[in-house]
Amino acid sequence: MKYYVLPDENAIGQAVGNLFCDLVRQKANAVLGLATGASPLPVYARMISQCEAGEVSFRDVRTFNLDEYCDLPQAHKNSYRTYMRQELFDKIDINSQNTHFLDGNCSDEFAESERFRQYVKAAGGIDLQLLGIGRNGHIGFNEPSENFTQEPFKVALTPSTIAANSIYFDDIPMPKYAMTMGVGMILRAKQIVLIATGSAKADAVKAMLEGEITPRCPASALRQHPHVVAYFDPSAAALLRK
Ligand code: GLP
Repeated sequence: MKYYVLPDENAIGQAVGNLFCDLVRQKANAVLGLATGASPLPVYARMISQCEAGEVSFRDVRTFNLDEYCDLPQAHKNSYRTYMRQELFDKIDINSQNTHFLDGNCSDEFAESERFRQYVKAAGGIDLQLLGIGRNGHIGFNEPSENFTQEPFKVALTPSTIAANSIYFDDIPMPKYAMTMGVGMILRAKQIVLIATGSAKADAVKAMLEGEITPRCPASALRQHPHVVAYFDPSAAALLRK
């Protein structure tokens, strides 16, 4: 896996935002895999500023988000749909009908998995997938486990993930389950870009790049993909050997 260490999150946001904008300029109906959390925010800021400047249009772009909480109303302020609207979709010229999410409130998780899988397939697959990384090495909401899961599935969140994300929930307890793309689906993206910033990610970054490839560190699977590039700030890269 190729990686770059850039000075800070804004430099990373510019670099990764440019990757997305360049792709969309080359392929107007590109299929983007999108992520939530703090890490992507500077990327989305770059995409918004490029769109506002008239340098790129997302009119024909299709998007698929990695994951969504279960048992949380879609319109709740902490749903990933709300996040995406507030942080990106409402600020660019995307057609909201082209934005797709797993339904965390579905009654049949297997039918929902198949629905989402078919949508991605019909779109021609994901051209560029954006990822953050959890402190325990999770990607999307693929928590450390005994197997790499292929297709979207319902996952029980770990105490580490609940602790990290609970800070965003001030009115209700954080959901304990989520629907997420499986590692297999993430690896089917044609290109992947991962961002990690801050010292809290240093152990996960080291395990991803230098540990064994194991579902105990879901991000380690990315080393099997031929077109992954990661961007770290110096704190996230601090424990790497070189
Ligand atoms: C959540 C999301 C992940 C994200 C991770 C890290 O668990 N499901 O997609 O990568 O948080 O988030 P942050 O970038 O806020 O550290």
